[in-house]
Amino acid sequence: MGCSALVSAVPLQASLEKTPSVLYLTWMHDPTTTMTVQWHTGKEDPFSEVMYRKEGQGQWAYKSGIYAQIPDTNFSVHTVELDALEPDTEYLFCLKGKEGEFRFRTLPTSLSRPMKFVIGGDAYRYLSTFRKMNAQIASQDPDFVVVGGDIAYTNGCTIGFLQGKGWQMQRWRTFLKEWKSQMTTADGRMIPMMVVLGNHDIRGSALKPKSVDILFYELFALQEKGVSYRAFNVGDYLSLFLLDTGHSYQIEGQQTQWLEKALSRRENASYKMAVYHIAAYPSVYPYEGETPTTIRSAWSPLFERYHLQVAFEHHNHAYKRTYPLKAEKIDPDGVIYMGDGSWGVTPRNPKKLWYLHKTAKTNAVCLVTLHSDRSTVDALNIKGEVIDSVTLYPTGAMVSWNGECLMQQ
Ligand SMILES: [Fe+2]
Repeated sequence: MGCSALVSAVPLQASLEKTPSVLYLTWMHDPTTTMTVQWHTGKEDPFSEVMYRKEGQGQWAYKSGIYAQIPDTNFSVHTVELDALEPDTEYLFCLKGKEGEFRFRTLPTSLSRPMKFVIGGDAYRYLSTFRKMNAQIASQDPDFVVVGGDIAYTNGCTIGFLQGKGWQMQRWRTFLKEWKSQMTTADGRMIPMMVVLGNHDIRGSALKPKSVDILFYELFALQEKGVSYRAFNVGDYLSLFLLDTGHSYQIEGQQTQWLEKALSRRENASYKMAVYHIAAYPSVYPYEGETPTTIRSAWSPLFERYHLQVAFEHHNHAYKRTYPLKAEKIDPDGVIYMGDGSWGVTPRNPKKLWYLHKTAKTNAVCLVTLHSDRSTVDALNIKGEVIDSVTLYPTGAMVSWNGECLMQQ
C-alpha cells in the first residue's frame, strides 16, 4: 500500500496537499544509517512528519522533525532526520498529508559493491548549462553528489545586483526545484546532496561575521547549526572533509585545528578526500593569491601527512588535475588536486603551469567510483564524455612503478 492510499484511509487527511516543489535529501550524520529530508512550505504549515518504510516492507514508520520560518521570506524549511536505518538499503518515504511517494538509498558500510559519487562546483550560474550537466550527473546513477561551493550564485555577482533577499530566496529555490526534478536516477531514487560554501553563497566574510547572509545556514541541515566545515566518515573506507575557504570561517585557527584532529582520527580509512571552494593550486587565478597561499600553508601539509588521495577544488571555472604534489613540488607520494569548478558556468582558459598535469576549457564534474582495491576519478564533460581519468589506491596499498597495485597491508 502506498502513502497516498494509507493517508486517504484517514478521513481527516483525505485531501492531500500537492507535493512541495522544493524537496531535497542531505545528511547531518552517518550516511549509512541516516537520511535527512528537507522541504519548503508556506509560513502557515507547521507539519514536519515523514512516513517511511523499507522497500518491500508493509509497515510504515513515522518520524517528526522541526520547521523554521526563514526571516523576511514567505517560506518555512522543514527538516526530518531519519535514523537507525539499515545500510545500503532502499526506503520509500512520503511527507505526511502531502501527495507523492519517493525513494532514497543509504550508503553501504563496506565496498562490497562499488560506491559512486559526483563532485562539482560553480553550479547554478546559467540555468541551461546547469540543467545539461545535471542530466549527465543523474545518468551516472551516483549514490550522492557534493556541490563544492558557488551553488546558486546568490551573492556578489552582477546578476543579482541590488535585488535583495526575495530574489536570493527565489534563486535558491530554483536551484532546489531543478535538483528535485533532475537529480533522480533512472529507477526513481532521489540523489542526496552535500553542500560546501563558496564565495557567491554568502555575503560578508570570516572577517566580518555580522554581515554574513544566513540563507545557506537556513536552507541546509548541517551537523552543527552555523558550522559549515565538517567531515563524513563512511564505514572504514571513506572520509570526506568538507571545508570552508574563508567564507564563513577562517582557514587558519579553529578550522585547521579541527581538520588535523579529524584527519588523525581517520588515518587508516581507505580513501580520504577533501572538498572546498577556492583552489590551493589554481588553473586560472594567481598561484600567489592570499587564499591559495594560506591553504597551501595551513592544509596541504596536513593532507600530505595523513595521505589524502585527492583534494577537490573549484572557483576557477575550468577543468584541471595536478600532478601529485608534496611540499609544493611534484612527488609521487603527494596529493592530487583536481576539479576547478565548471559545472554550470562559462568555462575559462586554464594556464600552463608546472603543477598542472591535465587541463581543459570545458564544463566538467568529477565522478568518483570507489572499489576496495582501487578507485577511479573520471572527469565528465557536458556530453557525458570522459575527458580525464585517474586511478587512486587505498591507504596501505603498495603500488609498483607502473601503477599496478601489488598488495594491501
Ligand atoms: Fe567562486
